[in-house]
Amino acid sequence: MLTRKEFAKQILANHTPSIKEKATAFAPANIALVKYWGKRDKELNLPVTDSLSIDLGNLGTETTIEPADKDAVILNGTELALDNTFAAKVIDFVNLFRNTVNQAVANQPALRITTDNNIPTGAGVASSASGFAALTKALDQFYSLGLSGRELSLMANLGSGSASRSIFKGFVYRHAGTDPNGMDSYSEPLSCTWPELKIGLITVSAKAKRVSSREGMERTVATSPLYKTWPQQVQNDMAKMLAAIKEKDFELMGSTAESNALAMHECMRAATPPLNYFEPETEAIISKVQKLRREGLPLYLTIDAGPNVKLLFQEKDTHTIKTEFPDMRVI
Ligand code: PMV
Repeated sequence: MLTRKEFAKQILANHTPSIKEKATAFAPANIALVKYWGKRDKELNLPVTDSLSIDLGNLGTETTIEPADKDAVILNGTELALDNTFAAKVIDFVNLFRNTVNQAVANQPALRITTDNNIPTGAGVASSASGFAALTKALDQFYSLGLSGRELSLMANLGSGSASRSIFKGFVYRHAGTDPNGMDSYSEPLSCTWPELKIGLITVSAKAKRVSSREGMERTVATSPLYKTWPQQVQNDMAKMLAAIKEKDFELMGSTAESNALAMHECMRAATPPLNYFEPETEAIISKVQKLRREGLPLYLTIDAGPNVKLLFQEKDTHTIKTEFPDMRVI
C-alpha cells in the first residue's frame, strides 16, 4: 500500500514540470446531495462510499502561487504563522508536489501561496473543498504539469475528500473505488445541467465546528452501530439520485438528499460519545421545512458536518421561500 508521498509521486511522475512565474486558479465550493462520511483508508484519505455533489457556482476559493524568498501562506489577506494548523496543512500539501517536482527541476524556489475565499463569512459553507481544489489546480499550473481532470481530483483528495469533487463544475460523482492504492478513487462531472434547481444557504452559526470531519468520521465508523447500514443506504440513495437528476424529478432529488443527510446525522448521533452537529435553531429549521412541505411547498434540505442548513428548491418558488426564510442566501 502506498504512502501519500508515493501516491503523489505515482501521479506526478508521468508529467514533466517546468516552473512558471505565477499561477492563479479558482475552484467552486460544493454541497453533497449524497454524502461522504467515513474513510476506508486514513493515510490516502479514501472514502468508504461513492458520493455526489453540486457546485456552488461563483462561491469558492482563488489561489495564487508565486516564487518567494521563504514560504508564506496568506489567507484572506492575512499572512499566517507557518505553524498555524491551516498553514501547516497547506505547506504539507504543497510539499507533495514540491518534493516530486524537486527531482526534475533544479533551484526550486520557496513559494508564496495566496488564498482568498469569496464564500461570505458566515455562509456556513466549508472552504476546505474549494481551498484544496484551487490549490491543486494552481500547483498544476505553476509547475506546468498538465494533469488531467481525473489526476487533479486524485491529488486534491489528499487535501480533503470533498476537494476531489470541487475540481469540476455542475453535478460531480465521486467514486470510492476498491484499489488499496486509491488510483480508482476519483471524481468526474456528470453531463447534465438543471438550471431551475436552486440552493439556499441558512447560517445558524459561523463558528468553526467543534469536532473536525476527520475526527467525526473516525468516531462514527469505529463506534456507531448505525454505520453498518450506511454503505447500503448510500448505494440505494445514489441510484435514486442519479435517476432523479436524469429525469429532472425534483421531488425524488430533494427527498433523497434530505433523507441521506438526516441518516448521516443519525449515524453520528449513535456514535460513542454521540456526535451532534445541530443547534436548536437547526432543529427548528428542519421542522419548519417539513411543515411547509406538508402544506404543499416543494422544499427540501441538506446539512453537512455543522449546524447550517442548505435548502433545495426550484427557481419558481424562490420568492415564497425567501419570505419564509429572510436570512437565506440564494445560489
Ligand atoms: O471533505 P471533508 O473531509 O471535509 O468531509 C466532508 C464531509 C461532508 O461535508 C459532511 C459530506 C460531503 O460529502 O461533503
